Amino acid sequence: MSKPFIMDHPLIQHKVTLLRDKNTGSKEFRELINEVAMLMCYEATRDMPVKEVEIETPICITKSKVISGRKVAFIPILRAGLGMLDGMLKLVPAAKVGHIGLYRDPQTHLPVEYYCKLPNDINERDIIVLDPMLATGGSAIDAIDRLKEYGCGNIKFVCIIAAPEGLEAMARKHPDVQVYCGALDEKLNDHKYIVPGLGDAGDRIYGTK
Ligand code: PRP
Ligand code: URA
Repeated sequence: MSKPFIMDHPLIQHKVTLLRDKNTGSKEFRELINEVAMLMCYEATRDMPVKEVEIETPICITKSKVISGRKVAFIPILRAGLGMLDGMLKLVPAAKVGHIGLYRDPQTHLPVEYYCKLPNDINERDIIVLDPMLATGGSAIDAIDRLKEYGCGNIKFVCIIAAPEGLEAMARKHPDVQVYCGALDEKLNDHKYIVPGLGDAGDRIYGTK
């Protein structure tokens, strides 16, 4: 099992604190989610292969590096994962985007799929799945199950806050998937919410309740 990569850059820590604060309103919350996503994208793409190409600067001909290898697809898990998409696309604008819609049943806390639309060449791309919250891990696991049914390999999962329970479940079910998170919290409460967490990410992004 690969260990979760906890991105504790001071900028991420600072912005996660603002996200946790219950007095942060939807507009600022949305902006912060995108800013954290952009910072996380920087780390999650660190191992992208590069190749040397020849270019001409105003001064001379030289060799310089560009990204090579497989193309990328971002897969936000609806709804809350959508909040991270713009931040990711700012850094990798040519990526394709697939959507997987899941909601957690409030009684069973199990994920229910209601939407799935993926790029045709999804199995030829490196995949970065986006969801701000990894609680029980059920939603992330189901989304990744679905991607593997389509033949996807090289899958990464990027979340902003993770619970130990979710990380353990992911490591058990998808040991090949590298998880990146901005903070590792204490535990889940009786309603399977992350403690201390930030509440319901989707509701805070979209101002619903
Ligand atoms: C939240 C969150 C994750 C899921 C995490 O979504 O965005 O998708 O819960 O919980 P889990 O790890 O226990 O599965 P939610 O079901 O609230 O839907 P939403 O994004 O539409 O608000
Ligand atoms: N989903 C959320 O949005 N927050 C949690 O703490 C758990 C699941």
